[in-house]
Amino acid sequence: MVMARVLIETCDIRKVFSAGGRVPFARKKGRVKAVDGVSFEIFPGKTLGLVGESGCGKTTVANMVLKLERPTSGVINYHGADISGFKGEDIRKYRHALQAVFQDPFASLNPRMRVGSIVSEPLTVQKHQSKNAIKERVDELLDIVGLRPEHARRFPHEFSGGQRQRIAIARALSTNPELIVLDEPVSALDVSIQAQILNLLIDLQQEFGLTYLLIAHDLAVVQYACDTIAVMYLGKITEMCSSADFLKRPLHPYTHTLLGSVPVPDPAVDIKRIELEGEPPSPWNLPTGCRFHPRCAHAEAQCKNDEPVLQEIAPDHMAACHVVSRTNGLD
Ligand SMILES: Nc1ncnc2c1ncn2[C@@H]1O[C@H](COP(=O)(O)OP(=O)(O)OP(=O)(O)O)[C@@H](O)[C@H]1O
Ligand SMILES: [Mg+2]
Repeated sequence: MVMARVLIETCDIRKVFSAGGRVPFARKKGRVKAVDGVSFEIFPGKTLGLVGESGCGKTTVANMVLKLERPTSGVINYHGADISGFKGEDIRKYRHALQAVFQDPFASLNPRMRVGSIVSEPLTVQKHQSKNAIKERVDELLDIVGLRPEHARRFPHEFSGGQRQRIAIARALSTNPELIVLDEPVSALDVSIQAQILNLLIDLQQEFGLTYLLIAHDLAVVQYACDTIAVMYLGKITEMCSSADFLKRPLHPYTHTLLGSVPVPDPAVDIKRIELEGEPPSPWNLPTGCRFHPRCAHAEAQCKNDEPVLQEIAPDHMAACHVVSRTNGLD
């Protein structure tokens, strides 16, 4: 069997932020390990979901993949080439190949620009194309995302949240990207609109062979839309497996907590937001040993002292948990 080539690969990437260093009376001083050794592969045409509570490092991972932040250590490969070495033309090509859609369609679109200019901006910045060619492309892109040609003349405030996210998707598609980073693309939308936008993204993926890195704090969203799911907790991946295994045989106690706290709705019928229980943990004050042990019902003495490593427990099913490694799954 021929293995598909990896499109994006992160190898043990870390990001440390310093905060409050020179600010007197800063509430938080020191360093925060926002991302602490994350490795994954994204294959062409597939969707990798990153899920976890607020502050676990999802957006920081996305920003490193988009080359908006430089990893403190570790490597990101694009078609096997280390992106840290990209200069000039390589960076231009990379920015064309990777696009992003962010959470807040109200903040991510320039309120003073007409929709036509917003959608065509990535093209006009990067290429010399005739006005007619750009207009045609804008009409085509608006049609692809379910909007009409006359919408190009309007401003973002004239649209609903779902329509604005369609505009953001049209803009992301303008460069014919290989991969789109979707950072909480539906979490600011009404529940009834969330499924429409997710279905649009899934249809576009099939039509254009797109690859997605989909970030969400909502389990229903990643289960609905992803091929592979990686759960993050305080800067680390705690479990990674196929979407099917994630539901059928979750391994990590943290995943059990997430799945058990709220019944998972049938996502085909209704995408409901699942709020995670308890205070989100703080990366400013990392527990010793396993980062999840203070909240874990299965924690043992070893969990307080030794940090577990992400390892394969079943075929293509990874978890970072001492108890799961020993028992091959929780009872
Ligand atoms: N530029 C920065 N400077 C200092 N700390 C930062 C910076 N960016 C992120 N952090 C910190 O890094 C941690 C991870 O943040 P990140 O935004 O990646 O989390 P997230 O999982 O995307 O959260 P959310 O679900 O709320 O979007 C947080 O503690 C955050 O405060
Ligand atoms: Mg975020």
